[in-house]
Amino acid sequence: MQKDHTQNRPKHIAIIMDGNGRWAEARGQERREGHRAGVEALRRIVKQSEDFGIRHLTLFSFSTENWGRPRSEVSFLMSLLERYIESDLADLHAEGVRVRVIGRRDGLSDKICRLIDRAESLTASNNRLFLQIAFNYGGREELADAAARLARRAANGTLDPEAINGDVLAAELLTAGVPNPDLVIRTSGETRLSNFMLWQSAYAELYFTDVLWPDFTRDDLQAAIDYYAERERRFGLVSASGETD
Ligand code: FPP
Repeated sequence: MQKDHTQNRPKHIAIIMDGNGRWAEARGQERREGHRAGVEALRRIVKQSEDFGIRHLTLFSFSTENWGRPRSEVSFLMSLLERYIESDLADLHAEGVRVRVIGRRDGLSDKICRLIDRAESLTASNNRLFLQIAFNYGGREELADAAARLARRAANGTLDPEAINGDVLAAELLTAGVPNPDLVIRTSGETRLSNFMLWQSAYAELYFTDVLWPDFTRDDLQAAIDYYAERERRFGLVSASGETD
């Protein structure tokens, strides 16, 4: 898909919200306090998205690798998602936010699965902002699951293997129907994708900042968007041809 050069503004921003633990440790607090502050930062960014013309926002909240953390931290992160949906769903709906949680359901409690289903169905026809929360998400797992579904359809004769192309695969991903991110932001100084939206980020601009996620403010979002606009001005019109810029 061709990037929008008319406005030089990202329509879809994906964020790897990193640094909650270090934020807490720097204050002599428990890591969970960092995650709690991380939810506050998440709330701020969701609210501010509209001002920046963002139509799609994807936030990496729990990776498939995060199961390897201490049990107490894993269950705390689970409870944060529960509490976030319980406390914010009505407001999100009132503000016209469509919610989708992307990731594997196995390992999640029945209660969380029910909350996710409720959030997705209640907000299904909203269109001001499409918020994707990546939870129990891994990019390789997403691709493997999509490949397995396509293989099953090919094996049972409902899909011609010759017809499989990038569009067919993209339609099987958890992000089906959502445009690819224009800009991926990672906080806390790490400069990796860490298995996040591997397919979808193929042509995204990448923006890394040392700011720890709980400290991420509107000014930091503005700086990332300015960076994106600058990249577009420099390179976009010179070499853009589809996504191969
Ligand atoms: C990375 O910080 C962050 C996470 C693993 C989780 C991100 C989660 C939130 C922002 C809150 C959860 C929100 C919802 C809605 C569930 P880290 O712990 O890896 O930080 P560190 O690298 O400094 O240790």
